[in-house]
Parts: sequence; C-alpha cells; structure tokens
Amino acid sequence: MLPSSLYAVCLQEQEQAALSQAEVQKQSIQEVRRSLPVFPYREDLLLAIQQHQILVIEGETGSGKTTQIPQFLMESGYNDGGMKIGCTQPRRVAAMSVAARVAQEVGVKLGNEVGYSIRFEDCTSERTVLKYMTDGMLLREFLTEPDLASYSVVIIDEAHERTLHTDILFGLIKDIARFRPDLKVLVASATLDTERFSCFFDDAPVFRIPGRRFPVDIFYTKAPEADYLEACVVSVLQIHVTQPPGDCLVFLTGQEEIETCCELLQERCRRLGSKISELLVLPIYANLPSDMQAKIFSPTPPGSRKVVVATNIAETSLTIDGIIYVIDPGFCKQKSYNARTGMESLIVTPCSRASANQRAGRAGRVAAGKCFRLYTAWAFKHEMEESTVPEIQRTNLGNVVLLLKSLGINDLIHFDFMDPPPHETLVLALEQLYALGALNHLGELTKLGRRMAELPVDPMLSKMILASEQYKCSEEVLTIAAMLSVNNSIFYRPKDKVVHADNARQNFVVPGGDHMVLLNVYTQVKRIGGYATQWCYENFIQFRSMKRARDVREQLEGLMDRIEVEVCSSGGDIVPIRKVGYFYHTARLSKGGYKTVKHQQTVYVHPNSSLFEEQPRWLIYHELVFTTKEFMRQVFDQSLEPPRLFLETYWNRDKDERSKVQRDP
Ligand code: CDP
Ligand code: MG
Repeated sequence: MLPSSLYAVCLQEQEQAALSQAEVQKQSIQEVRRSLPVFPYREDLLLAIQQHQILVIEGETGSGKTTQIPQFLMESGYNDGGMKIGCTQPRRVAAMSVAARVAQEVGVKLGNEVGYSIRFEDCTSERTVLKYMTDGMLLREFLTEPDLASYSVVIIDEAHERTLHTDILFGLIKDIARFRPDLKVLVASATLDTERFSCFFDDAPVFRIPGRRFPVDIFYTKAPEADYLEACVVSVLQIHVTQPPGDCLVFLTGQEEIETCCELLQERCRRLGSKISELLVLPIYANLPSDMQAKIFSPTPPGSRKVVVATNIAETSLTIDGIIYVIDPGFCKQKSYNARTGMESLIVTPCSRASANQRAGRAGRVAAGKCFRLYTAWAFKHEMEESTVPEIQRTNLGNVVLLLKSLGINDLIHFDFMDPPPHETLVLALEQLYALGALNHLGELTKLGRRMAELPVDPMLSKMILASEQYKCSEEVLTIAAMLSVNNSIFYRPKDKVVHADNARQNFVVPGGDHMVLLNVYTQVKRIGGYATQWCYENFIQFRSMKRARDVREQLEGLMDRIEVEVCSSGGDIVPIRKVGYFYHTARLSKGGYKTVKHQQTVYVHPNSSLFEEQPRWLIYHELVFTTKEFMRQVFDQSLEPPRLFLETYWNRDKDERSKVQRDP
C-alpha cells in the first residue's frame, strides 16, 4: 500500500497526464482541421453563403465538406435563436460516423449539440443544433414541419450519389426556398455533376474547393479475371509483400463478399505466419456494428499494414486516411426495378467509369498512390457506363409517392424532378397505393393513406399494421413487420457451416410460412432475454439484426397511439394474421413454379423459405427479387383462404365493391 500522501501525488500526476493527453488530442484535432483543403476558404465560403441563398459546393472527397462546413456555420452563428443546421447523408453509417467525429472536434458529447438521426434511431436532444441525418429522415421531417421552420441551413450532402431521397429533397427544398428567403441551402458534392445541380437550382453559383491530390498510377489486368474475389486476395497479399508501407483499400459489392474476402485474407496470413509483417484486415459495410466500423479510422501501428475491405460506401461517403493502394474489381451491387412486374433485382454489375475514377482517387489523398483495376483497359472504355443511373429511375416509388401525397403534392407528373422517374414506375406506385386503399380512385389520399404515411415503413407493411387492428393481432403483426424490415439478415449462414445453420433454421419452422417463422424467432429470443447473445450464436441467428428488429418494433409500437391503433394480441393464433396479408402479392401454384395473380409472371419460392419443400397452392409473398431466378422472398401460406382473396383484391372488376373493401381495412 502506498502512504496516503504519496497516493495523492500519484493521483494528481495521473490526472495531469490525462489532462495533458486530452489537451494534446484537442490540439492535434485542431491541427488536422487546419490542414484540410477547405480550411483556407473558410471566409470566402462564409461570404458566399451570406450572399446567396442557394450555393453548390464542389470539393474532392476528404476536403472537409461534411465535417467542417457545418462547424463554420455554427461558429458564425447560424444556429442563433435555437435554429438548427441540418446535413443530410445518403447512408446511415456516414451519418453516424461523421456526427461522432464532429462531436469530438467540437468537444461535446454525441447527441448533445451535435447529433444524428437515422430511421429507427434518434441520437439528438433539445440541445442539438447540428444534426446529421439520412436524406430519408429529412424527407420525413417535412410531414411534421412542411417549411422546415426550425432550420436555418440545410446541407444536402453527397448530392452526387443521387439517391431517391436526395432527388426528392431537391424538388421539395427548391420549392420551400422560394417562400423562406432566410433559409440557406447548400448542395455539397464530390467533383461530379455540379453543373447539373447549379442548373437545377436556377443557376445557383458553384463554390469550388481546390483539391490536393497526389498522382495515382493506374494498372489494368491484361485479361479479364475469372474470379475477382480470389484476384483481390492475391493482389492484397502481393502488395503486402512487395510494396512499400501504406494502407490498402479493396472495393467489393456487399457484406457476404467482404466477409469471405476477409476470411480468406486472414487464413492465408495465418498460414504465412511470421514470414510476413502484420496485416490488419478490416471490413466496412452498412450493417457492420458501429464499434467495428470505428476501427477502420484508427491509425495503423508502425510495421504493419491495414487493408480495408469495403462496399462503395468508401467511394465518397467515408474517408480513411493513409490509403495508398486501391484494388478495384470494377463491380457494384445495383438495384433495378421492373415497373411492369414490380420485380426488384439486386445484381452485381460493372460499376460506372465515374465510380471507378472516384475509387482510384482514394489512393492519392496523402501521397502518390496506385490503383489496381482487376479488369482490362478495354473493359473500362467499352463495358462501363459513363455514370450511374440515378436511383429514382430504377426503384419502387410506393413509399415516396405516399409521402408526397401526404405533403399535399397531388400532381406527381409535374413535380420538379431533376431526372423524372419512368412514367410506368409512377403509375405502378399509384396503382399499388390504390390497391392498398391509401389513395381513392381520383388518386387522392384517403384517411387510411394518411395514417399509413405516419409509419416509416413500406406501404405494404403499414397497411398490414393498420389492418391488424380489426383482426386483433397487432402485437404479432408489429413483430412481423419489424422482422421484415430488417431485411433478410436474421439467419446467419456462414459458408463453412451451411449444414449446421440450415438445421438450426429448420428448428424454427412453424406452420404458415416465413412470417410465422420470423414471429417465432422473435418470441423465442425475447423469452431468452439476457442470455440471448450466446443463444443466438448457437442457433445461427444474427443477434445484431434481432436487436435492430426490437428497436424497430419499439418505435413502431410508439407510433400506434398517433395513428390510433390499439395494440392487442391474438395469442399467436394464425387465423387473424392470415387475414392482414397483402393480397396484391398473391401467387398460385402452377407447373414447376408459381404464377403471380396480378401479372401472370412465373416466379419461385426462395430456397431459404420454410415453404420451399411444401409448395402450398396459394401464397402471399413479401417481395419479388431477381437474383439467379425470379424469387419470392418471405412467403405466407394462403391455401386456406383463396376464394376470399379474389373478392377482396384489386382485380375484382366491381369498382364499388372494390373501393368499399379497400377503404375500410
Ligand atoms: O466531406 P468530405 O469528403 O469533403 O470530407 P470530410 O468527410 O469532412 O473529411 C475530412 C477529414 O475528416 C478527413 O481527412 C477524414 O480523415 C476526417 N474524418 C475522420 O477522421 N473521421 C470521420 N468519421 C470522418 C472524417
Ligand atoms: Mg463528405
């Protein structure tokens, strides 16, 4: 034991050390801030913002647009009088990580003055003046505050990504800016498309932040790669063994690929053992838990090399320092939508040349870099599109149309779109909302539609939730809706344990179909309670997804009051649950597969479904997805009630009957 006086001295020294460490950290943060390309333009930028209501800001990724400009605005009083500065991000991960970074720079606790808001997760408080949020969240804020009166500045960041929600925001914000002259609008983008933004916003001036870029040497392969994943692994190891220090960034298309790549890399490094220096392998994708995400930003220890394996999230929305080498197989996962059949596909396709160039640019931020393209120079020129098609032209618009209708925008054909969606997609969305009873035959919002819009989920799910009240099974349906919205990530199926994983999944199968299986899983996890992590692991259930499902469910339940739905349980009875299904999505067993009732399209039960073997005569599917085949995902057995389907569904020709049935769920 130390004598107490000495003990006190020690404590004091420790405290001082801690203090000076914080001091050092703060200083170095300020140094980093000052070193960013945007810093010398602080005054000019503020002046331009003062002089113009709408300003387009262009700057290379990493120049400090996202983290610094909102701070400049705070420092010059744009948040006076309790006004907020909002900054939208297309991706959840970016909104969270950027908010955390800025809170640290400002020296406040995340969620106080600086916070973020993403769907089903609000990390803001009364005190929040700088709010990072997904573009979808700002869109929803229009419902409660149609003129965004509490904001003094809105920054639409990463505008070049052209997500569906960003595109809709463009139209809405351009409109409100006309009658809110005090509102400042900043459209921030990487060095892409800025002329188009300027043109859309009535020739708003473009403020260019000159970048600091080092040259990047680009290498192509001589012949196409048969297996780009394997080629990535080999390339990383080659770089690691032959190239000077510097971190490496690999672009892949999704979680599964990234996990495989990381596993392969780790395994081969293990085999090579001490023959090579340490290689830190870090994945990054949207669904990765935030503590794991944070790891990619921590500095690489001397003597080792970091390799970050990322989706195109690292293309522009996240900046990782120290990257010298980029490996680009040239693919991305892209959503497309067939407006004739309502089939969504998520297919790995060649990325655009604009994307490829952004990726290469990631190698030249801190020093001269190298980019290894795992495709031929010919493919770059001839097989890649110039730029990516905006999401609005390749997605289902049901959600957005319902939202716009609730904002009183009836004439969607003449909405101010930067690039209008295909006419058929709009028509299909209107038709589906009509079938759900959200719109009447004049295309106007019904009372039901208004209530549906309050719920931040797909219209199909919100209708299901509202309908569940009548059948007294809202407890169950809330759970099912929450599980469906966490999107196919409940069951874990690692490649090396496929048999075990499938057996585990089999244990959850109950009659009725996938919706009932999801309900069963949720109920069991809830019953286990505190020990669920281990239990989930043993049962090949993704604990993280379950946590998210729980959060989603809580939020939805919290909204029930607002839409006046009483929460009650059917005690797990399937009969009432069967009645709230989305009849628009009915399919009938027919030779070798199913036929959708609406479009007579041939579709199949997904092999992961609990009804894959059983193949009941009638099904309701949650979604149609083309991957290797036209699959129905998440299916519900409707064989017991087929005749009712036809009376109640949209394609009943009797109009009066139709509107009567559809209007009161
Ligand atoms: O928005 P833009 O791409 O212009 O740059 P930024 O995201 O504001 O990034 C500026 C700097 O902040 C970069 O050098 C990043 O390294 C750093 N940053 C960070 O350290 N951690 C984050 N979560 C985000 C940015
Ligand atoms: Mg940014």
